[in-house]
Amino acid sequence: MLEAKNITKTFHSEGLDTYALTGVDLAVESGEFVSIVGRSGSGKTTFLNVLSTLLLPDSGEILYKGEDVTSMTASRLNELRQKDFAVVFQFHYLLPYLSALENVLLPYMKGVAPVSKEARLRAEQCLERVGLADKGAKLPGHLSGGEQQRVAIARALVKESSVLFADEPTGNLDKGTGESIMNLLADLKNEGLSIVMVTHDNEYAAMADRLVSMADGKVV
Ligand SMILES: Nc1ncnc2c1ncn2[C@@H]1O[C@H](COP(=O)(O)OP(=O)(O)O)[C@@H](O)[C@H]1O
Ligand SMILES: [Mg+2]
Repeated sequence: MLEAKNITKTFHSEGLDTYALTGVDLAVESGEFVSIVGRSGSGKTTFLNVLSTLLLPDSGEILYKGEDVTSMTASRLNELRQKDFAVVFQFHYLLPYLSALENVLLPYMKGVAPVSKEARLRAEQCLERVGLADKGAKLPGHLSGGEQQRVAIARALVKESSVLFADEPTGNLDKGTGESIMNLLADLKNEGLSIVMVTHDNEYAAMADRLVSMADGKVV
């Protein structure tokens, strides 16, 4: 379903070249849960960002259902980002002055137009799905770290995406809370979601169908 072919990416900053990705290949099947592990600086985040279209590679192809993401028109790319792909980060990036429910509704918000009843219902269902049915009115600052990450996952689910990209989703959480987030991801996988997760926790990585190891900008 998603295939990366010979991806390279070099960063140029302050006169220094960093070869972050030096020819990465990966294929993810529909409904598969893949975890990417590797030392800090091995290129995991760069690769995930390239896969999720947040970052353009220098060379190589990203094929999603056969279509090359790196040469898509801006409008097709927008469609993909709004519908098919969802991203969760280590830091949840919730807006602090919006309630949990409003944060989940963000993908539906366009300018000042009010969101539809259906969107609201869908957002409530997603909050319920992550175990926060009764916390929708709370501000992120009044939720625990694990609950905040659950809201971020609910926001990623609201669009009924096909692929979830998660960069160290448990990186900021204590062990017990991290485990509950991992169990939630495993349940979502069983419901048909494809997941690509970056982690440096080997125990969590082993919960995926397949483990991919990176070192020095390559899959090893
Ligand atoms: N925006 C950037 N500018 C310059 N160098 C970067 C940038 N992003 C990442 N790098 C460098 O690229 C390499 C890979 O980084 P990253 O993908 O974040 O690794 P990981 O997520 O495995 O820790 C590192 O050496 C990092 O310092
Ligand atoms: Mg990283």
